[in-house]
Parts: sequence; structure tokens; C-alpha cells
Amino acid sequence: MIENGTGFYISFGGQDRGMSMKQALKILWKRTGIIILIIGIMLCSGCAGKNMPEQENSPIKIGVAIYRGDDAFISSLSGHLTSEAKALEVKLGRKVIVNLADAKNNQGSQNDQVDNFINKGYDIICVNMVDRTAAAVIADKTKEAGIPIIFFNREPVEEDMQIWNKEYYVGTDAEEAGILQGELLVSAYERNPQSIDKNRDGKLQYVMLEGEQVHQDALIRTEFSVKSVLQAGIEMDKLGSEMCNWMRSPSYEAMLKWLEEYGDAIEVVVANNDEMALGAVQALREKNMLKNGPIVLGIDGTKDCLESISKGEIYGTVKNDAKRQAEVILTIGGACIEGKNPSDMVPELEGHYVRVPHYKVTLVNANVVLKQE
Ligand code: BGC
Ligand code: CA
Repeated sequence: MIENGTGFYISFGGQDRGMSMKQALKILWKRTGIIILIIGIMLCSGCAGKNMPEQENSPIKIGVAIYRGDDAFISSLSGHLTSEAKALEVKLGRKVIVNLADAKNNQGSQNDQVDNFINKGYDIICVNMVDRTAAAVIADKTKEAGIPIIFFNREPVEEDMQIWNKEYYVGTDAEEAGILQGELLVSAYERNPQSIDKNRDGKLQYVMLEGEQVHQDALIRTEFSVKSVLQAGIEMDKLGSEMCNWMRSPSYEAMLKWLEEYGDAIEVVVANNDEMALGAVQALREKNMLKNGPIVLGIDGTKDCLESISKGEIYGTVKNDAKRQAEVILTIGGACIEGKNPSDMVPELEGHYVRVPHYKVTLVNANVVLKQE
């Protein structure tokens, strides 16, 4: 056996160098044993560094940044995200932590919250933009960090949705919501025209409670709800419209003002969302006009609104399915974590977009929908 400074090789003709076969095998066993041990140590240190076992045991961190926590619909969606995270936990067999950050309507704060998620190595980031035109900064940063980003409810402009391939939007089709809301009014009118067209002039005198001007849902819902009534051959006559930013109390104020001005000439109240419809109901209740007053229509299907429908106050709403949206957000997130293709798990995914379908709710199904909440 010859050994040099850098390594060794073995010759089985050991005897001619004065070494017995037994001795040679002993040395061979010693050396190969050491090599096996070294290879073993190297492999194990490799596992601990980048392979799965350790990572599989660490919790999945999901950062959710919302535009404002006092928005009724967003707060219900956040609640569903938290409960759906439990389902994801069971599915993936790993602990899932959801960290909710409320921007309180301040885009600067929201950017800081997202930076914080990125710096802490979150696995998935979900953002409900304060200002939907400011999404590029966030999409760029998540791309750089390689963290999948799921925007929801407040839709970024189209070019900001093309920044990278792990960028998604989960929301609804605002046009569909408007059309369904219009259809609710058409069917109520057709069933009993005189109960709605109280002055019997063949037109529906209405007031419109609008969401934020910059929100894609507000303008489109307004336009298409009226359009679908007109298309059914029913004339509409607008008495007033007011931007109430999705909130109950400004719409209560607006409704009080209109009631002072127009009294029972208001035949229909169309609201871009349920909270504003509930604000109108509060004003009608105060004026003792809930029984024979205007028909009130909302959008969202929040718990409060479903209860109001059951009491016969709000006539109907269009369900903006927060539970399904939360489920879709976390299914996409889960697929990204598992390295799977999200479109295999979310059939509604088209490119970067998922639009969860709406459906109508009236007295007929309000209780059923309420139970699903
Ligand atoms: C909902 C509103 C909500 C808004 C917040 C809309 O889709 O219908 O209720 O206030 O999103 O962005
Ligand atoms: Ca009329």
C-alpha cells in the first residue's frame, strides 16, 4: 500500500512490501470507515441547511394587509381568512399563522406593513390596497423577494397585475353585481308595480348611495344597476345621489336629508353596499317610514343586512361571497407553498384573476345564507 501526502491508493499485493493481507484489510476498513463517516456528516449538514425536514416543521406565515378594519365587508372577509387558515393548516399538515395589519386608510402605513412582512420572511402576502392605483411598488418588492402576492377586493390597475407570475387578484365582477341588483328591483316591480311606483307615474323615483369614487366596484355597480332596470323597459328618475364611502353613518345622514326634501316621493333606495342600505333603513325607521316607505336594495349579504331582510326592512341584496373569496385566497396561497399550479386547484382562476360569482338574496333565501355565514 502506497500513501502520499495528498491521498492514498491501495494495492492488494501488500505482502511484497512487508505487510500481511490481514493488516492491509484492517487499514482499508479503517480508512473507508472514516470516509463513510465524513460523507455521512456532509450529507446531514446539507439536509439541515436547505432541505425540507426543518422547513416542514416551521409555521407558514401569511401576512394580510387590509385598507381599514372598520369596513364591515372587509372585517367579515378577514374573519373568514382566519377560519379558512385552520382548514389550510389541516390540509398542509403545518401550522399556519395569519397576521392581520390594518392600514386605517393610509397607503404609507400599508407600504410599511408590507415591508415588515417581507423583511420577516413571510411565505404569502395578501393585500387589500388602500389606494388601488399604488400596487406597483408592492408587486415589485414581492417579486424581488420571491414572495407570492395576492391582492383582493380593491383591484389594482391592469398593468400593475402583470409585474410577475406569482401575482393574483381575487374579487368579483362589479358589472354582474349591478345587473343582479337591477334585476331584484325589476322582479319586485313586475310582481306588484303599484307597491313600488307609488305615485303611479310609470317611473321609479330613486336615490343612489355610492361607495368610494376611486373604487372599481362603486362606479360600475351604480351604472349597471340602473342600466339593467332601464333595459327591462322601466323608467328611472334620479332624485339624488351621494358618495358615502361604503359607510353607514354618512348614508344615514344623506337619507335623512333626502327625506326632508322629498318625503314619500322617494320610491327606491339603491345602495352600492349593505352598510349604506342599513344607514338608509335607520333613517327610514326614525321617520316611521319603514312599512310603507321606499324599497331598499343593497350589495354584499353581510350578517346585519341578512337579518334586516328577514325582518322585511331591506328588500334584497346581492351576495358578495366573502367566505368563498377567503377560501380562494388561501387555496392559491397553499398551492404556491406546495409548489403546485394554483389553476389546478381554483377552476375560476383566469390568468392572474379570480372573480367569485354573486347571487341574489331576498326574504326567500336570507335565512339559508345567514346560516352559511
Ligand atoms: C364591498 C364594500 C366594501 C368595499 C371595500 C366592496 O366590494 O361591497 O362593502 O366596503 O368593497 O373595499
Ligand atoms: Ca313613480
